[in-house]
Amino acid sequence: MTLTPARTAATPFPDGFLWGASTTAHQIEGSNVNSDWWRKEHDPPAKIAEPSLDACDSYHRWEQDMDLLAELGFTDYRFSVEWARIEPARGYFSRAEIAHYRRMVEGAIVRGLRPMVTLYHFTIPQWFADLGGFTADGAVALFARYVEECAPIIGEGVTHVGTINEPSVIAAMAGLANRGEQGFPPAGLPFPDEETMHALIAAHHTTNRAVRAINPDIHVGWTISNQVYQALPGAEEVTAAYRAPREDVFIKAARGDDWIGVQSYTRTKIGADGPVPVPADAERTLTGWEYYPEAVSRAIRHTAELTGPSTPLIVTENGIATGDEQCRIDYCAGALDAVAACLKDGIDVRGYLAWSALDNYEYYEYYEWGTYKATFGLIGWDRETFVRPPEPAAHWLGGLGRERVLPRL
Ligand code: FCB
Repeated sequence: MTLTPARTAATPFPDGFLWGASTTAHQIEGSNVNSDWWRKEHDPPAKIAEPSLDACDSYHRWEQDMDLLAELGFTDYRFSVEWARIEPARGYFSRAEIAHYRRMVEGAIVRGLRPMVTLYHFTIPQWFADLGGFTADGAVALFARYVEECAPIIGEGVTHVGTINEPSVIAAMAGLANRGEQGFPPAGLPFPDEETMHALIAAHHTTNRAVRAINPDIHVGWTISNQVYQALPGAEEVTAAYRAPREDVFIKAARGDDWIGVQSYTRTKIGADGPVPVPADAERTLTGWEYYPEAVSRAIRHTAELTGPSTPLIVTENGIATGDEQCRIDYCAGALDAVAACLKDGIDVRGYLAWSALDNYEYYEYYEWGTYKATFGLIGWDRETFVRPPEPAAHWLGGLGRERVLPRL
C-alpha cells in the first residue's frame, strides 16, 4: 500500500534548503546514566511513566540510523551531544565520548547528511543539577566550558549548531519545581522561573560567542518551542501578556543570531482568564495535544515578526505522535503546505526537519517524560531486537528530499 497526500503543483526547495529529521541524545541513545533525567526516572516519587533504559540503543546504532535517513532521501540530520556523557563528573571531560560524537559528525558527512548539532537538549549532568542547575553560581561559565570542550566535535564540517533546545520549556519546568510540582509542562506552558529564563538567555549568548570562536563559519542559533497562542475574541491583550515570558522573550533573544529554530506541534487558545482547555470532541494526538497541522505556519509567521527579516528561520521540529501512518502523512502534508505558503510570502525559511527520525522517549499525556507510547518516529523499532523498519511517512518525506520539492502549492 502506498500512502501519499493528494498532489497538486509542487513548490521547489530554495537553494540549500535543509531537509531532515531531528533527534536528541537522551531520547534515543539509551543508558544516559550520568544525567539528571536518568536519576529522576529511577526515583519512585518522581512518578515517571517508564524509564528510558536502552531507548532505541542509538548510542551503538547511530550508523544504522544515519544509513536509513540518507537512503530515504534526507540531506540533514539534527542530533544532540550529551553533556552528561562528555562531562560525567565536574571538570572531567571524556576523550572517548568526544571521539564518539566526532565519529557521528564524520559519519553523517560521509553519508551526505549535514549534521546539525544541539549542545544541550533537556538533560544535564547530575552533578550540574546537584549544584542547582542554571541558576547556580558560575553555572553559565560551567556550561560555556563544556561547549568549548566540544570544539573537537563541531570544529570542522558542522554548518549548524544549536546552543539550547526549548529554553522556554526548561524555564517552565523550573517554574513548576518552585511550586513543588514536577514533570513536563502541558502545551500552553506554566509560568517560567524568571531567574532560569535570564540564565538561559545569558548562556545562549555566551555560548553563541564560544561556538563562533571555535569556527566562525558555523551558523549558530537556538531552537524555540512555539505554543501558537491564539486569542479568543477580546483576549488579544491577555494573550500577548501571557505569551511574552513564555515565548517572545526567547525569540527576541535570537535577534542577530545566524538562524532561529521554530518548533511547533499544536496551538493554545487563550481567553480572558488564560488558556482554554481543548474541547472534549477535538481530534487529539497520542500526546493529548490537539491535531493542528497549521501550527507550524502560525509559529513561523509569529517568529518572523519578532526577529525581523535578518534572522533566517529553520523548522527544527514538527511532527505528530500517532500510530496511524496516513494521519502522520496528512499532518506533515498540511504542515508543508503551510511552509510553502510562508516561502511564497517571502519569509526566509531555510529548512524543515521532522520530529522525529525515530520513535523515542517522549511526552506522556500532558505532563511527563517519558514513555515510548507516543510514537513520533518516521522510523519504528522493535523493543527486543532494535530492528528499525522505516514507516510509510519516512519514504514519502525522504522522497520529497530526493525530488527537492514541497508536495503542494
Ligand atoms: C519538543 C522537544 C522534543 C520532543 C518534541 C515532541 O518539545 O524538543 O525533544 O520531545 O517536543
